[in-house]
Amino acid sequence: MSSRTPLIAGNWKMHKTGLQAAEAAGQLKGLVKQATGVEIMIAPTFTALYQVAQALKGSDIALGAQNLYWEKQGAFTGEISSEMLVDVGCSHVIIGHSERRLFFGETDASVNRKIQAALSANLIPVFCIGETEAQREASETFSVLDKQVRDGLKDFAFEDLSGLVVAYEPVWAIGTGKTASREQAQEAHQFIRSLLGTLFGKQFADAVRILYGGSVKPDNVQALMKMPDVDGALVGGASLDPETFSKLVFFKH
Ligand code: PGA
Repeated sequence: MSSRTPLIAGNWKMHKTGLQAAEAAGQLKGLVKQATGVEIMIAPTFTALYQVAQALKGSDIALGAQNLYWEKQGAFTGEISSEMLVDVGCSHVIIGHSERRLFFGETDASVNRKIQAALSANLIPVFCIGETEAQREASETFSVLDKQVRDGLKDFAFEDLSGLVVAYEPVWAIGTGKTASREQAQEAHQFIRSLLGTLFGKQFADAVRILYGGSVKPDNVQALMKMPDVDGALVGGASLDPETFSKLVFFKH
């Protein structure tokens, strides 16, 4: 058994107004009150962060953002800094989600700067990587993951990265209803952990949590979580409904 505490994280993407998000967070708080041995994080959209932070008061559910910009402040219209996220109550931030890479031009280099900004503000980065369907079909999965990890974590030392969470999200499994089989997930997670071991040492690799993301649902979560290198889930669609998401939190039951 690994000593890593599982993390079940919800990425609400561009869904819910402030009021809707606060209501869902309040419901979730009640539903997961009895949860033990698991960490929970939800990442609403920026405009809902303040209301959700208020709704989560008195619970252990962590608040995350879905993105940040690496500069502290300045003339960067439309951007939000790590300090602003801390100020509103965030402890986590999703970085390099495939939708950001695909639709908003994020690169491994920008992801690297964002991880740096998150860590220097004491935010826990949830660093997303994953191959597209075409890359998997061309047998490039491992080379893609290798590059994303090396470039995304370039110039860090292991002691800089404490708390880092990695999320393996095969792009072909996101929002498609196609989940990686537990063997495919395990194989990718094992590859990532061993690469992290090469780059940052065994102690770091043993401690780092690697979440799986891509159509995680109540009926597949248990099988995925049984795999030795799967330490949690980053969940989109199934995190929007508090009842469904709470079933993921109680994956052991
Ligand atoms: P999904 O999204 O669970 O809806 O597939 C996962 C994600 O994008 O993090």
